[in-house]
Amino acid sequence: MRLLAVLLLVTILLPPSAMAEDGAQAFTPCRACHSLDPAERNLPGPNLSGVIGRAVGSDAGFDYSPVLRKARDDGLRWDAKRLETFLADPAAMFPGLWMSMRGIENAAERQALAKFLADPASR
Ligand code: HEC
Repeated sequence: MRLLAVLLLVTILLPPSAMAEDGAQAFTPCRACHSLDPAERNLPGPNLSGVIGRAVGSDAGFDYSPVLRKARDDGLRWDAKRLETFLADPAAMFPGLWMSMRGIENAAERQALAKFLADPASR
């Protein structure tokens, strides 16, 4: 009985980042710079509505770094796999990237985030 209470407490007290399965939760820190509302355009980062499936560096209203413009010109597209790899270490995939964010270490969290970005309404 005591063990159960301890387990319950641990579940309640764990910070959200430790409960990695929630993609919407994982997207919370990204919202400072990215919107999923196609009409919202005045944030420091490109709009991410419909990002899965679209070309890299293709928000027409955003002025990308040379490395992302080159990726777009090379024909790279975002799919779930590429996004998950990107999120593990963004600057490793695109050296010179203008996005100041450390990678997400937890693979389950990256996966949940990619799933959420593919279909934000699904939750
Ligand atoms: C401090 C601001 C900031 C935060 C926080 C941030 N980003 Fe970014 N992000 C940017 C900027 C700026 C760019 C454009 C980089 C460039 O042009 O090199 C970018 C680019 C991207 C791109 C490429 C978009 C495209 O159109 O090709 C993706 C995907 C992305 N971010 C996802 C995320 C996710 C997911 C998070 C949260 C885990 C996140 N970002 C957190 C600023 C941020």
